[in-house]
Amino acid sequence: MTSSELRRRFLDFFEKQGHTLVPSDRLVPADDPSVLFTGAGMNQFKAHFLGLKKDLKRAASCQTCFRTGDVDEVGRTSSHLTFFEMLGNFSFGDYFKLEAIQYAWEFLTADLKLPEERLSVSVYEKDEEAAGVWLKAIGVPKERIIRFGAKENFWPSNAPSDGPNGPCGPCSEIYYDYGCCTVGKVCPKPDACAPGCPCGRFVEVWNLVFTEFNRQEGGKLVPLPAKNIDTGMGLERLAAVTQGKMNVFETDLFEPVIEAIIRLLRHEAPDVLKRDQRASVYAIADHARALTFLLAEGVVPSNEGRGYVVRMVLRKAARAGRGLGLERPFLHQLVPAVVKAMGEAYPELLGRRESIAKGILDEEERFAQTLKEKIPLLLGEIRRGPKGFPAQEAARFYDTHGLSYEEIARVCAEQKAAPPPRADFEKAVLELQAGSRQNSRFAGGIFAKDALQEAVSGIRAATEFVGYDGLTAQAKVAGLIQENRLVEEVKAPASVGVLLTRSPFYGEAGGQVGDTGILEASEGKLRVLDSQWVGAVLVHQAELTEGKVRVGDPVRAEVDPARRQAVARNHTATHLLHAGLRKVLGDHALQAGSRVADTGLRLDFSHGKALTAGERQSVEELVNEWIESRLAVSVAQMPLAQAKAAGATALFGEKYGSRVRVVSIGEVSKELCGGTHLTASGDVGLVTIVGEGSIASGVRRVEALTAEAALDSMRAEVGRLQQDRQRLIQRNKQLEEEKSSLKAKGAA
Ligand code: SER
Repeated sequence: MTSSELRRRFLDFFEKQGHTLVPSDRLVPADDPSVLFTGAGMNQFKAHFLGLKKDLKRAASCQTCFRTGDVDEVGRTSSHLTFFEMLGNFSFGDYFKLEAIQYAWEFLTADLKLPEERLSVSVYEKDEEAAGVWLKAIGVPKERIIRFGAKENFWPSNAPSDGPNGPCGPCSEIYYDYGCCTVGKVCPKPDACAPGCPCGRFVEVWNLVFTEFNRQEGGKLVPLPAKNIDTGMGLERLAAVTQGKMNVFETDLFEPVIEAIIRLLRHEAPDVLKRDQRASVYAIADHARALTFLLAEGVVPSNEGRGYVVRMVLRKAARAGRGLGLERPFLHQLVPAVVKAMGEAYPELLGRRESIAKGILDEEERFAQTLKEKIPLLLGEIRRGPKGFPAQEAARFYDTHGLSYEEIARVCAEQKAAPPPRADFEKAVLELQAGSRQNSRFAGGIFAKDALQEAVSGIRAATEFVGYDGLTAQAKVAGLIQENRLVEEVKAPASVGVLLTRSPFYGEAGGQVGDTGILEASEGKLRVLDSQWVGAVLVHQAELTEGKVRVGDPVRAEVDPARRQAVARNHTATHLLHAGLRKVLGDHALQAGSRVADTGLRLDFSHGKALTAGERQSVEELVNEWIESRLAVSVAQMPLAQAKAAGATALFGEKYGSRVRVVSIGEVSKELCGGTHLTASGDVGLVTIVGEGSIASGVRRVEALTAEAALDSMRAEVGRLQQDRQRLIQRNKQLEEEKSSLKAKGAA
């Protein structure tokens, strides 16, 4: 059975059981600041688990995931990956253990027809209910029901003792028994081999999580408002099992990629094929898939946050390649193979093939250069110093020379010098940067322990946004946050995060900045400086200037109308600019990111080279013509399929629900967008491009201004030109004078 068919079969099965099919969320979640990457199907449903969102009872999805926790295992085992697809079914306060187990069993044994005797299960050691269901309702023999502790059978792993805070619960896993070792090792205990044995005979295919608790500070497990189900089954593992393969890398999901690597090896390093280097080939295949998807979503290798994680994965793959004799950049050549394997399911990859490959090639070259230049420096330092290499020195190599901890540790090991412990190194890096940059560089978990997120998890209801049609609203204070804690009352003067039952304030999303304005509570006045979504809850970041405010107080909320109008002007202008760029440069010039503020706008788009002066002028002229034509801006809600059929531009990697909001400007632009806009293009007034440059390979950025700001910038430009003109006239005069005096001297 092909993997495409498996995806379909899974979703069809759960749709028939009344589940709403929800599209995969982005790998880089748009509205969850607490994580770097989407690591599980449940991530996009956190608000549903917490009872904040109530629009779904049952859902199913096939979610692209990226996790780095097992990165060192990838290639060595039959089933570990960094990038994978997770099939999942979810219940939010609807069905629980019995049905979740029944559905899973029915899908595997009746739908996919896996032999029952090949399946074993595990349950949490204290979960008698789940054990009972497997034994009595399903009839799994007792010896194939294994009990594990919270490390294996609680999700997230060890949540009660170690956290993170948030939704969690005991889980039950389903294992497939290959009947023999899958990792090429001898089983250490052939007679007692069981799930969890390192020989890999038993591969976990499905994890059923009974999400019933909200873990709070100190490990308190508070029952959630409702009992939920979160399941996750790795598509790659299921494909291996159903395709009769011993590991995920032999499935159709990897076939073209492995073939491409083997071709490269035959060409570049034929000797290597004789040796057993399978693990490296497999790791490269995994990393090539991960990089393709991450770069497609606009993540750019860098020294921070997500970019750092991507850089590390790329370097790992490049090093594995070097180990096989691939000395020159090669990873970028695997992108077409990844797209071949995945393009049918993820057609968005097709149009980005070239820019992804270019991005990977650039980073491969940068890495080669870094190794060439910096390793000798590092060697010099290590040789000069005492036996151990100090953390502060290592941090300096990281910060100024771009060498990763892994590289530094490797060179230390080669020189028989002890590398600093990783924790000391990380601390030294943070100290070096004195907290000036975000401290997320080493995070990468499923849930990060984000303080605000935690504070907000105590709030039971989502904020209703009522700001498309009006700028004022009556609401009640639903919560107050001070220093990342929920408090009951705040007295002036104070900074406070205010949560309201409903709000006309637009929380930052889709590149558009958050609104500012005022809140008039019954006994206090607040100035809102920013509005940010934390999951389904809008946090108004405010200054309490007078009086006091308490939870439950009635509030009149009012958005600053002039600023909102300026933001709308820039947002409508952004859509026009996007349309203009695509018209002048071609359809490939798709938006890769944007920042829409009251003071101006910035648009990132895919394009391989700088705009020529002519192109820049054409785009500007076109956009201003559209403004002059006073095109109507209209907004419509429709099903996603209908919007796509009507040619609406959807941004790759953006997450759209099944119903979407489509913003059209006359006939020239149609985009999926949740932002606030003008009602007519004419109100933009004027657009001028003030900057253009490259921000990553294959991605350009234009900066533009509208209306007054555009006019001011043009006036300033004219002023500068006039000054330059004066200077040139002056200089010319001076030169003329010098010339005549020289001439006179010459004559004399
Ligand atoms: N959240 C669980 C996991 O990631 C089940 O989907 O394993």
